Amino acid sequence: MKKNVLLLTGIASFLLFSCKDKEEMIEVEVPSATTTEATPVNGDPKTVVANQGAFQMKGLNYGYNDLEPYMDAQTVETHYSKHHLGYCNKLNDAVKGTPLETMSIEEILNGLDLKNSALRNNAGGYYNHNIFWEIIGPKAGGKPTGKVAELINKDFGSFDAFKTQFTDAAKGLFGSGWVWLVYQNDGTLKITTTTNQDNPLMPNAEVKGYPLMNIDVWEHAYYLKYKNERPKYIENFWQLIDWSKVEYRMSLAK
Ligand SMILES: [Fe+2]
Repeated sequence: MKKNVLLLTGIASFLLFSCKDKEEMIEVEVPSATTTEATPVNGDPKTVVANQGAFQMKGLNYGYNDLEPYMDAQTVETHYSKHHLGYCNKLNDAVKGTPLETMSIEEILNGLDLKNSALRNNAGGYYNHNIFWEIIGPKAGGKPTGKVAELINKDFGSFDAFKTQFTDAAKGLFGSGWVWLVYQNDGTLKITTTTNQDNPLMPNAEVKGYPLMNIDVWEHAYYLKYKNERPKYIENFWQLIDWSKVEYRMSLAK
């Protein structure tokens, strides 16, 4: 470490050592500048724009670093501006010049041709991530209220029972995929899982219905921060769920 040498003379020496009248050379170690700022994050979610096409990125209601410490800025930025954007751009390519261009994403998913793997993967990836970013936020977590709380209590027994079941499904899902809370046509809630970028709107869904919330358990969602510790990522995800957004999605369910 670089050392600065300060020469203390005269008055200082006199005050400290009143008997001394000779100059004294004291070597003082000056702390070097330290970096205490968080890892800098490049970019702004507002600048993430898809190539020209039928679908566009919806933006985030928060900055890349606002979900710290539960979800780190680098993961959020990479996940949104690289992975999610990639699905959106490839979805635009897949629907270009077809009747699908004028349909909503939910209409496309409901009537999906499962053999069209480019459309299946990218329409799913686009929609699933839209929900993921929508239902999380800073200063969130806690327990739901209103109709969501009422139905969770009715269909799972309690919020804690629901949380355990959802968490276990996320921990136990093999490989890449999603866990969902689905509002079924009969008005009940159910937890389900899908692999890859499939979702509960698709014709092959084991549990069909309107997705109220989800968690992404692809490694790209957590590996930079949590490495192989998926359970820690899942536990911390509960601190990010904005239940008012889940309640809003329930109002959209038909
Ligand atoms: Fe993802």
